[in-house]
Amino acid sequence: MNWLSPSILAADFNRLGEQIRCVRDNGAQALHFDVMDGLFVPSISFGMPVLASIRKETDMFLDVHLMIREPVRYVKEFAESGADLITVHYEACSDVKATLRAIAQTGAKVGMSIRPETPVSVLRPFLKSLDLVLIMSVNPGFGGQKLMEGTYDKLRDTRKLFAEVFGAESGDGVPRLEVDGGVNTENVGALLRAGADTIVAGSAVFRGDIADNTKKFLQILA
Ligand code: DX5
Ligand code: ZN
Repeated sequence: MNWLSPSILAADFNRLGEQIRCVRDNGAQALHFDVMDGLFVPSISFGMPVLASIRKETDMFLDVHLMIREPVRYVKEFAESGADLITVHYEACSDVKATLRAIAQTGAKVGMSIRPETPVSVLRPFLKSLDLVLIMSVNPGFGGQKLMEGTYDKLRDTRKLFAEVFGAESGDGVPRLEVDGGVNTENVGALLRAGADTIVAGSAVFRGDIADNTKKFLQILA
């Protein structure tokens, strides 16, 4: 089943509760939470206290994307703050296996993301520990960027890698395949056809009519 995971980085933080309720009430299956440390990416966003207050407010699946160096230092705190899934960057971990193990030990689902310039092949040794793979379609750090055209092939290559490792491109035991950055209602159909089943969208959801934007995405994802 396809999921929409709106990225709250693009939301109005003066009206965050209302806007979260709006995407939930219009059918979004998850909420994407972009954590940035100003080191791994050249921007700073928000952290555990904001996640904990959102957790109190909603039962939505909280899809936490850690764009931070050495995320193993914080996985326990993000899990305790309410993360249902924690995604770390391959490029940010000095010990990837230990970091993925640390997430699993918290009881949260395990995700791994790669930057646009990182080849899909680096994922192979970790795939059987993953519940989700996140293919970045922009250089991480900012919302509102344009989707990079190489994303479609990268999604197709990831599905081929899944078939090699799991014996099937999708289905039970195969990770979700998430795409993140520059996604909108014009390109999301092609992204689904290229293999994505979990869609992050920030600006395309939270700019303009949030309810209408969410409904439009969900019609395409149905
Ligand atoms: C970028 C973040 C994305 C971003 C998506 O580093 O990981 O989740 O917020 O925002 P849009 O959909 O506006 O590109
Ligand atoms: Zn993200």
